[in-house]
Amino acid sequence: MSNVLEIIQARHSERGPFDPARPVAREDLGAILEAARWAPTPLNMQNFEILLVDDKELLESIERFRSDASEAFLRESYAQLSFSEEELLAKKTGLLASMFPPAWTDPEAWHPDSDSRSQLAFVSTWMPQTPMLLLILHDAGKRAPGSEGDALGNIGLGCVVENMWLMSEFLGVGFQVLSAFSDPRVERQMRGLLGVPDRMKIDLACRLGYPIESTHNSVRVRRRVEAFCHHNSFGSKPPMFDEDEFLPGSEHELNRATRRVSSLGAELKMPQSKPKPYAELRNSPVQVHDVAAGEEKPA
Ligand SMILES: Cc1cc2nc3c(=O)[nH]c(=O)nc-3n(C[C@H](O)[C@H](O)[C@H](O)COP(=O)(O)O)c2cc1C
Repeated sequence: MSNVLEIIQARHSERGPFDPARPVAREDLGAILEAARWAPTPLNMQNFEILLVDDKELLESIERFRSDASEAFLRESYAQLSFSEEELLAKKTGLLASMFPPAWTDPEAWHPDSDSRSQLAFVSTWMPQTPMLLLILHDAGKRAPGSEGDALGNIGLGCVVENMWLMSEFLGVGFQVLSAFSDPRVERQMRGLLGVPDRMKIDLACRLGYPIESTHNSVRVRRRVEAFCHHNSFGSKPPMFDEDEFLPGSEHELNRATRRVSSLGAELKMPQSKPKPYAELRNSPVQVHDVAAGEEKPA
């Protein structure tokens, strides 16, 4: 339990440059894709495809693609930004403005004629030094049974991404989700470059690599449990949970948690145990029936 919580709290968005000389190791990538494979999906539809891109020329072409950061998108995003750590800690939702390119945080720059708007136009803004991109796709012609707008299918895709993200955190692989890849303009350019059929929708991209300098130190906030949890009727406060049991610290902000992940077990007042290396997990006695590999189901 302590290991799972430790990894969940430490999982974070790594927005800095990745080491261009260090491709994602085959065994790390294998473990990340294995995590995707076992993600829950509605009725076990497994409604996802993953396209790996690590060819240098392709990545360079993608960096030059232009996106449409619409004014509406920028305005809505702006509402989620805090301009100081104090503001973010008080709000407990959103992100620090300093994490984003200056043009994001300057309403003057959003006007289509503004010079600084060009800063927002290129996909390269979102992917400094990236040795690998994973594109998450799904067949837009299929949907989870009975799910209006395929909300359930989309939740399944979220589970796939979260599984990969947690495994990446566990392995020390930097991971950033990039939603700009579902922008129709970028999607069109990607289709042409990578031969993605029209029926497949590009949902988002995940940027993978080994961080040169981790962004672990930035403040990450979350609401307290009683702020989102209701008990028996909506609006009724749940019984108080002592959050200090899970995450001590006066502010409950998670930057400290990510920074101190190696010593977290002790701080959580739980027995400290090391996460098992992936190879050990794979060979552990918990067996799963591997249909894809044509295994016989155990009697
Ligand atoms: C569906 C989805 C889309 C996201 N899109 C982006 C994105 O385009 N760029 C980015 O840097 N982070 C993106 N994120 C990451 C969130 O901003 C991030 O998870 C959130 O701010 C919490 O920070 P943390 O991941 O460090 O805990 C996305 C996350 C999700 C789940």
